[in-house]
Amino acid sequence: MSKGKFYITTPIYYPSDKLHIGHTYCTVATDVIARYKRLCGYDVMFLTGTDEHGQKIEIKAKEAGVTPKEFVDNIVTGPDGKSGILGLWKHMNISNDRFIRTTDDYHVEAIQKIFRKMYDNGDIYKGKYEGMYCTPCESFWTESQLVDGKCPDCGREVHHAEEEAYFFRLSKYAKPVRELLESGTFLEPASRVNEMIHNFIEPGLEDLCVSRTSFTWGIPVDFDPGHVVYVWVDALFNYLTALGYMNDRYDQVEEYWPGVHIVGKEIVRFHSIIWPAMLMSVGMPLPKKVFGHGWLLFGGGKMSKSKGNVVDPYLLAERYGVDSLRFFLLREFPFGSDGNFTNEALINRINADLANDLGNLVSRTVAMCEKYFPDGQLIAGREAGPEDEPLLQAVMELRDIYEKDMEAFATQQALVDIFKVISRANKYIDETMPWALAKDESRRERLATVMYNLLESIRVAVSLLAPFIPESSEKIFAQIGASAEDVTWDNAAQFGVLPAQVQVHKGPVLFPRIDMEKELKALEELEKQNAAPAEKPEPETVTIDEFAKVKLTVCKILACEPVKKSQKLLRFDLDDGSGKMRQILSGIAKWYKPEELVGKTVLACTNLPPRKMMGLESNGMLLSAVENDEGDPHLIILDDSLPAGFTLC
Ligand code: MSP
Repeated sequence: MSKGKFYITTPIYYPSDKLHIGHTYCTVATDVIARYKRLCGYDVMFLTGTDEHGQKIEIKAKEAGVTPKEFVDNIVTGPDGKSGILGLWKHMNISNDRFIRTTDDYHVEAIQKIFRKMYDNGDIYKGKYEGMYCTPCESFWTESQLVDGKCPDCGREVHHAEEEAYFFRLSKYAKPVRELLESGTFLEPASRVNEMIHNFIEPGLEDLCVSRTSFTWGIPVDFDPGHVVYVWVDALFNYLTALGYMNDRYDQVEEYWPGVHIVGKEIVRFHSIIWPAMLMSVGMPLPKKVFGHGWLLFGGGKMSKSKGNVVDPYLLAERYGVDSLRFFLLREFPFGSDGNFTNEALINRINADLANDLGNLVSRTVAMCEKYFPDGQLIAGREAGPEDEPLLQAVMELRDIYEKDMEAFATQQALVDIFKVISRANKYIDETMPWALAKDESRRERLATVMYNLLESIRVAVSLLAPFIPESSEKIFAQIGASAEDVTWDNAAQFGVLPAQVQVHKGPVLFPRIDMEKELKALEELEKQNAAPAEKPEPETVTIDEFAKVKLTVCKILACEPVKKSQKLLRFDLDDGSGKMRQILSGIAKWYKPEELVGKTVLACTNLPPRKMMGLESNGMLLSAVENDEGDPHLIILDDSLPAGFTLC
């Protein structure tokens, strides 16, 4: 029986570049919450997708020499159909139920209807926009919102922009939006509420410019075709169109709306002020919650392609394993705050928590079960011991503690709490010393009880870890002999679920230990190899018109002699087809004897200005080919059938 419906979303990402570890962090966190809710028994709808319109994409596509749609297709699906954003989410084991692209037909149609609805109800009107615009963020800002004259979100340059535009009456909704922010737990963490009220509500909400005329890559306003819908209106409504709002593609608005939005802190303003106001305008229920998570920083700064400090999630997952990366992201950083990404922290986490604590507990327990009970018969529960109580109590309390953490999206704390039990179980092995019990035939039942308690502790802890490390959890369940039916929310609060005849299966090492020193060196090497090769200057190009200015003429060598007092120069008399003799000096004396050249057909540049060498005038240049600057020149000798005076075209 389902406990109810649960709808959760990530931001829809801009496919303007490959996604990095920051985007992956948000998607993995949302995936963990979605999986947790499924484990609890909810019928979950987990949505992610891509936000494909806007000037930034239009500019990028132009730079790449492709259409905007070709450009975004390449990033979303990847050139090979799998390496793009879709491929990344598959690789990271993201369990989204739906993926929306804002270029999908059903979304485009719905946005046009929504825009018209707000126009018809008087919340959208036509006016003129003047303000400071940040192109990468697609945001207009007032002077007072700028920080040191730059975009308050990304810190980049803004420029003055002016255009005829439609406006949304955001000011009309200032009061209800404020009430919403101040009520209960709509926006979390709580610190973000003050930020919103102080920075945006108190200075006064201005109406929002919601159409653009300066570019075309967007959803056209169907009743005024020169305008495209502001990309944030187009993007925010994805959360509803993906359920079928104002379109026939789906019919699940009633079923799943309202939902929970997980977003980065820089777009909380859009989600907690603009989005509720627009929902009020179209008469839809407001989201249950907006959670603004912190940023992953690199070297103390926000990751960005332009700063060249992006970390590639695909490479990390390939190197350390998908689950290790997922675990690290959620264990290392408190979800609501910023955190600094380092390779050392990642390796430490894998070694300490996964290889050491969890990996060791599983491998020691399974190995001892196999050794002491090769037939798999654990005659369990017959002989309790004084060491059992603290472990059993910790295991039995875990699910409720975990539930509280997860309901508050305190994913880091949830992992801390699970690992307290894992450590407790490791300590239990040291306390009970199964290897000593094994030596004493009369303690066989006690030994079986100890092993069973360990298997049960692992089962409970790993059931709750499954949303974080789904693939490894499956492997652990297989090792401890748990079947799929054993892994349920109810069972996570029960002791004694595994059968007494549980058959364990030792498997390969789950999380191999990483040698920090060697690994950091290897990473350094990799970085060097992957570092962009020293910038080669772009070979200078000439236009066809520039090239056409160079006159290359077929000439016959009529006479050739060394130039007196020169080691290098030969003097040529040439028939260039003009009827007049042309004299050219060429520095090829070292390589050619004059007599062997007479009568040859050669190529000369004949519109260079005259130049004096050793007192003689040279009217042009004979063309030679060389391997490189130091190479021997090879005079270009043509077929004799070419008449003098022909020019290259
Ligand atoms: N397209 C908009 C969102 C529209 S939602 C209706 C957008 N896209 S984005 O590609 O820039 O993605 C932003 C989101 O990616 C952030 O809100 C955050 O969730 C995630 N992150 C991007 N960089 C990040 C970090 N360095 N650290 C953590 N999360 C990061 O904004």
